Amino acid sequence: MAQIGAASPRQVLLGTAWLLLAGLLLPFPPALEAAGPVLRAVGSSVLLPGLGNTTHSRSTRWEFLNGSGPLPILQHLGGVLPPAIHPAYAGRALFHPSNGSLLLQDVRESDSGTYRVTGGRESRETQLEVLYPVSRPQLRASSLVAGAAGRVVCEVAEGRVDSISWSKDGQPPAPGSVSRLSGSSSALQLSPATRSDCGSYSCNASNGISWQESSLEIAIEGLSHRLKHTLRMAVVAVVFAVVSAWGLIIPVCQSQKLRIRGELWRWLSCYTCGLVCIACALDGTAGVLWMWEEGPSVAVILPEITLSYLTVVTFLVATTVIFQPADFSHLKSKKAQRTMSYAAPGAVLAVLLSSAFLIRSIHQRHEGGCTKFMDVTVLVASTAAVVALPLLAIGLCYQRTQSCPKQQDGSWMDKVSFEMSEPGPKDTIPS
Ligand SMILES: *[C@@H]1O[C@H](CO)[C@@H](O)[C@H](O)[C@H]1NC(C)=O
Ligand SMILES: *[C@@H]1O[C@H](CO)[C@@H](O)[C@H](O)[C@H]1NC(C)=O
Ligand SMILES: *[C@@H]1O[C@H](CO)[C@@H](O)[C@H](O)[C@H]1NC(C)=O
Ligand SMILES: *[C@@H]1O[C@H](CO)[C@@H](O)[C@H](O)[C@H]1NC(C)=O
Repeated sequence: MAQIGAASPRQVLLGTAWLLLAGLLLPFPPALEAAGPVLRAVGSSVLLPGLGNTTHSRSTRWEFLNGSGPLPILQHLGGVLPPAIHPAYAGRALFHPSNGSLLLQDVRESDSGTYRVTGGRESRETQLEVLYPVSRPQLRASSLVAGAAGRVVCEVAEGRVDSISWSKDGQPPAPGSVSRLSGSSSALQLSPATRSDCGSYSCNASNGISWQESSLEIAIEGLSHRLKHTLRMAVVAVVFAVVSAWGLIIPVCQSQKLRIRGELWRWLSCYTCGLVCIACALDGTAGVLWMWEEGPSVAVILPEITLSYLTVVTFLVATTVIFQPADFSHLKSKKAQRTMSYAAPGAVLAVLLSSAFLIRSIHQRHEGGCTKFMDVTVLVASTAAVVALPLLAIGLCYQRTQSCPKQQDGSWMDKVSFEMSEPGPKDTIPS
C-alpha cells in the first residue's frame, strides 16, 4: 500500500486509463473463443458447447449474434425449471442442463453466425457456418484445336465453393494455367493446345463440408473445321478427277472401229470435261481455304493459278461441246486444238497433284492433335457412285448402239472425236 501511496499522480492516472481501456475492450469476462467456425451442412444438427454443469448456477443464456444485435435463443434460470425458448427456435433448440450445451437441429443457411452462451460471469462464443454441400461439378470444353487457345471450364451449380482444384491424368496442371472465373467456376487455359494436352481432366470442387469430383476425357483435334472442309473438297476433287480420267482413257483404249462417236461421244466429252472443270474449281477452293488457315505460300499459289486457268479452259470446252458443237469443226488453229486436247488430261493431272499435296499437308496438321483422322471412305464411295453413274449410263447406251447399229451421224464429230480422244502428235483436223 505504501508503494501505491508513493506512486506519483501521473502513474496513478496512467494506470486508471489502462484499466478504463481494458474495461471498454472487455465489457464481459474474457470469452472462450473456439478455433475457427464450426461447419455444418444444411439440414444437419450441431451441438454448441456450453459452459459446464448449470444446475448450480443462477442462469444460462444463449444468444445469436449476426451483425444486427444479439437475438435471444433461450434463457435457463437454473434448477429444474425448463428453459424459456424463443418462438423462432421452438422445436429446433434442445438445451442440456447438465453441461449447458445447445443442440440446434435442422440448421439453415440463415443460422450462420456467432452463438454466445453466458452464465454468471462467464461467456463463450461459437461460430457456426451452415453450407449447402457442393453439387457435382460440370466439366466442359469447347472444340479444342491444336495450335489454338482453348480452355476447359469447371462449373459448380450448387453450394458455396471454397476451392476448385484441377488435375490432368492425376498430375497437377501447369502452374499459371488455372484461373477462377467466378465463385463457382474455374477455367484451365490451354494456350495453345497441343497433342500433349490430351488426357483425362478432373476438377475437384470443395467447401468445408463436402467435395465432389468430375472427370472429362479431352481430345485435341489436329484439324479445324475449315481444314476438315478443305480435306473433304480435296478428296471430292480427287474422286471427280479419277472418274473423269476413266472417261478420257476408255475411248482411247477402244479400237478405232468400235470407238464411241456421235451424240454419245458429245455427252461423254461434255461430262468428263465438266467433271474436270468442277474438280479444278473444288481443288482451287480447297487451296484458298488452306491458305486462309495457314497463310499464303508459293507452293499453293502456283497450283492455284494453274487450276484457275484450267477451270476456265475446261469450262469453255464443256460448254462448247454441248451448246455449239459446230464450232469444233471450225477450229482451224493448231494451237487451239492442242490446247483443247491437252486441257482435260492436264487438268486431271493438276488436280491429282495439287490434291495430293493438300491432303498430305492436312495430314501433317492432323498429327498435331490426338483424334483419329477423318474417315473419308463414305464420302469417297458415295461421291464415286454418284459421279460414275452418268458414265455408266453412257456406257450402257453405247453397248445398245453397238448391238443394234443404226445409221451413224459420222460427220464432223468423228473427226473431233478422233482429235479429242487421241491427244498426241496427230492433233490436226483434216479439212
Ligand atoms: C452435453 O450433454 C449431452 C447429454 O447429456 C451430451 O449428448 C453432449 O455430448 C454433452 N455435450 C458436451 C459438449 O459435452
Ligand atoms: C451438476 O451439479 C449438480 C450440483 O452441483 C450435481 O448434483 C450434478 O451431479 C452435476 N451434474 C453433472 C453432470 O456433473
Ligand atoms: C440476423 O438474423 C435475423 C434472424 O435470423 C435476421 O432476420 C437478420 O436479417 C439477420 N441479420 C443479418 C445481418 O444477417
Ligand atoms: C478433393 O478435394 C478435397 C478437399 O481439398 C479432398 O479432401 C479430397 O480428397 C479431394 N478428392 C480427390 C479425389 O482428390
